[in-house]
Amino acid sequence: MKVLALNASPRIKGQSKTEIMLSSLVAGMERAGARVEVVSLRTKTVKNCIGCYTCWTKTPGRCIHRDDMATELFPAFIGSDIAVFATPLYHFTMNATMKAFIERTLPVLEPFLQQKGETTFHPLRGRHPAVVVLSVAGFPEQSVFSQLSSHMRFMYGKGLIGEIYRSAAEAMVLGPYGKVRADILDAVTTAGVELVKTMRIDPATVERITQPIGDKTVMARAANIFWRTCIREKMTPEEMRAKGTVPRPESIEDFCLLMKMAFRPDRAAGLKAIIRFDFTGEQEGACSLSLSEHGVEESVQPGGRADLVVSAPFDVWMDILTGKADGQDALTKGWYTAEGDLSLLVRMRELFGPS
Ligand SMILES: Cc1cc2nc3c(=O)[nH]c(=O)nc-3n(C[C@H](O)[C@H](O)[C@H](O)COP(=O)(O)O)c2cc1C
Repeated sequence: MKVLALNASPRIKGQSKTEIMLSSLVAGMERAGARVEVVSLRTKTVKNCIGCYTCWTKTPGRCIHRDDMATELFPAFIGSDIAVFATPLYHFTMNATMKAFIERTLPVLEPFLQQKGETTFHPLRGRHPAVVVLSVAGFPEQSVFSQLSSHMRFMYGKGLIGEIYRSAAEAMVLGPYGKVRADILDAVTTAGVELVKTMRIDPATVERITQPIGDKTVMARAANIFWRTCIREKMTPEEMRAKGTVPRPESIEDFCLLMKMAFRPDRAAGLKAIIRFDFTGEQEGACSLSLSEHGVEESVQPGGRADLVVSAPFDVWMDILTGKADGQDALTKGWYTAEGDLSLLVRMRELFGPS
């Protein structure tokens, strides 16, 4: 079986969530014995259809353009058994790159109008591959894909053999969602195996792919802290990632939230400790975090027992958190104090660090 997998994301490898999902799907398809060609449309020239109908009249089945679509992609498309259309969700549908590709598949149709029941359609000139659509979105609700799904179902009917949609895809790649991400990607691989073997995806697999990632209110709060930092620092998300810039909380509640999200239980084997932050200055109050290898919980007793107590002006600690000040240097200068098990202070970056 031959599969042509088209990735329409403009983002490069490592940044594209479409690519992450597609790689897992392709792994499954290959495991099931398919020969898969993956094409990043970002690297190809696919001119817009100009509606001249040359492909229907003067050169039937052949487009007037001479670009990568005409010479390479269209032949690969009609020569494949399955075509995977992988696209980021843009404005609640496929992106323009994917749409340009699909419009350029017009030569696969003949111009004539045929009718079946109440519906008029163009007959196929030759073979058309079965279609799988894969899409990822930033918003957390799966309903964001309803327009795309409806469009693809209308266009391809029974020829659409699989739909793989993942909302909250940007959050999915973050540290705290590692376990659920692994299960989702494993399910996408299973979908790849199923598509090649049975030309369908088991509903149980779809359920695993679309499982909730986390609390959407928490995700929205974390995302807003992140975007506010991008705006303040004048950095794009990719520049933030490349520089390792940490989002800067503006309140104690946001600080607690981000610390909980950043905590790495996999690095806390055998640990059982409470760290309390007593903040003064522009934000007054405490944040107590109870840490163990099973996870992190916010302790509700503000003045309760703690193994390490960090007392700091809020803005000083936020400067340390975001790398604008050096923690050791600030401690020496007396900008903050730490009492109790100082080994926890030393391990702070490890316990709350990025992967
Ligand atoms: C122009 C543009 C439009 C977008 N529109 C939507 C949208 O309608 N709904 C949504 O949930 N996410 C939307 N997003 C977010 C993307 O779907 C999300 O970031 C996705 O992970 C990008 O996939 P990629 O990493 O493979 O490029 C949009 C992003 C951009 C840049």
